[in-house]
Amino acid sequence: MSILQINSSARLKGSNTRILSQYLVESLGQPVVSRDLTQQPLPAISASDLIDVHGSAEHSGPSFQQQLALSNQLIDELRQADTLVLGAPMYNFNIPVTLKQWIDAICRAGVSFKYTEQGPVGLLDVQRAYIITATGGTPIGSEMDFCSRYLEHICRFIGINEIAHIDASGFQDSAEQVVEQGKRQIDALLSGSNPEEISGEA
Ligand SMILES: Cc1cc2nc3c(=O)[nH]c(=O)nc-3n(C[C@H](O)[C@H](O)[C@H](O)COP(=O)(O)O)c2cc1C
Repeated sequence: MSILQINSSARLKGSNTRILSQYLVESLGQPVVSRDLTQQPLPAISASDLIDVHGSAEHSGPSFQQQLALSNQLIDELRQADTLVLGAPMYNFNIPVTLKQWIDAICRAGVSFKYTEQGPVGLLDVQRAYIITATGGTPIGSEMDFCSRYLEHICRFIGINEIAHIDASGFQDSAEQVVEQGKRQIDALLSGSNPEEISGEA
């Protein structure tokens, strides 16, 4: 088992997603590759490089080559993992822009997914994803949640079929209570006492 851990909270301290993601990877006890999208943000991509990286570009300028190499590297990190841990704070009902940049880099037609007559098919072999979503009160799974539901969609899109959500939403609860509840969810997931939390292919 090997884990790819992605953190995206802008907060380096006191971040519920970072605390829970660290607790989860330590509980899993397997080798971890960590990518911190706040401390090492991906470089901005120009409009033409974005189109070219996602097309059959014949351009070969240096910035295109760099963006292509980065996309390949990020996809390789996924290929080498069988477990993905995504820590996502909700910002304005959605994911942080840094995490969207990562998604734009890893979703590539013919590489991480392909279109078929039956619809898109994921090409990556990651077995499971844990999606840790922290909010300041917006309920996870509600109509206003364009964060955890979107991330689940992307995971399925690239071929990850086992998805578990860790709910770190908090409204009236203190940060300590939110983290404690998150840890309990993780303990239950890993002990198999809460199997319904892992949802298989829809
Ligand atoms: C820019 C920004 C936008 C936010 N937008 C929302 C939001 O739309 N809904 C919500 O419930 N909380 C929102 N929050 C609160 C965060 O989701 C909450 O503080 C969460 O714990 C952040 O994750 P973290 O603890 O890992 O940093 C926002 C926070 C920031 C900084």
